[in-house]
Amino acid sequence: MKRLQGKVAVITGAGRKKGLGEAIAQGFAAEGAVVVLTDIGAASGPHLTADNIGTTAEMEEVAAGIRASTGGSVATMTCDVRSEDDIKRVVADTVKQFGSLDVVVNNAGVGYIMKPLTEFSIEEWDLVLNVNLRGPFLFTKHAGAAMIKQAQAGRRGGRIINIASQAAKSAAPQLIAYSSSKHGMIGLTRTSAVELAPHGITVNAVCPNHVTTGLGAKQNAFRGKAIGATTHEEIIAFRTAKIPLGRVGLANDTAKVCVFLASDEAAYVTGEAMNVSGGEEMH
Ligand SMILES: NC(=O)c1ccc[n+]([C@@H]2O[C@H](COP(=O)([O-])OP(=O)(O)OC[C@H]3O[C@@H](n4cnc5c(N)ncnc54)[C@H](O)[C@@H]3O)[C@@H](O)[C@H]2O)c1
Repeated sequence: MKRLQGKVAVITGAGRKKGLGEAIAQGFAAEGAVVVLTDIGAASGPHLTADNIGTTAEMEEVAAGIRASTGGSVATMTCDVRSEDDIKRVVADTVKQFGSLDVVVNNAGVGYIMKPLTEFSIEEWDLVLNVNLRGPFLFTKHAGAAMIKQAQAGRRGGRIINIASQAAKSAAPQLIAYSSSKHGMIGLTRTSAVELAPHGITVNAVCPNHVTTGLGAKQNAFRGKAIGATTHEEIIAFRTAKIPLGRVGLANDTAKVCVFLASDEAAYVTGEAMNVSGGEEMH
């Protein structure tokens, strides 16, 4: 029996190749879950440009790749996590089409607006907080309500997994909104874990360190300039030097932890903020 057989999982921000969302979806589908990939689908405003987001076409390619490699059931839905209506629609449509909603992974995030605190605009702050913290709050609220209803009807407990960051635990200079939003995500995780526990629903956060995704590559370009690194290898060597296990993280490192947290094996784990950082972060 596969570890997530019979579970239906929604993952936000999962429409980008090489992203953590793609890897998590791949891991879930390989373990037998029905997976609903969601992403914003189209560019929107000055920062959510086509080169920073998962377009509808890219999300369909991600879905096709996962179906081909796992033989699993993978659906796609557009969802801008800044929109409560979009979130309500995804929750309702998932339950209608697949019979339940058992796992939500709040993965969508904006992490590439890097500048000093004194230059950060209120529009930039609002965008980052709206995507990284308000969206997960709204998803937890509406998916949590659906999971409570399922629990009352006798279905096994739900799982909510928040993709936070190393920046949820330590200061990340020039990332004031990102680091603040990810620290906030731990408060959201702990509070919703306590409130949803009586219904058998667990809520946990995962805190990866650097992974070279689309978002990670943008951070590399910025940090590279700051340390005078001119090549990808130099910036990765700089990052690796701080990691006890001697390599930067891979998307699959995070995906494996998410599979565990989504599985029945993690039934007694809730309110955690689990580092996936090769020992770089230990608290
Ligand atoms: N890559 C890293 O180093 C790293 C480390 C720690 C945590 N994270 C977190 O992992 C998550 C995934 O990031 P990634 O590195 O895979 O980058 P990514 O760019 O591949 O994924 C981010 C996704 O969020 C989506 N998104 C942005 N705004 C959205 C909105 N309004 N509605 C819906 N979707 C939206 C994008 O379209 C994109 O698909 C993020 O929350 C990020 O903060 C990444």
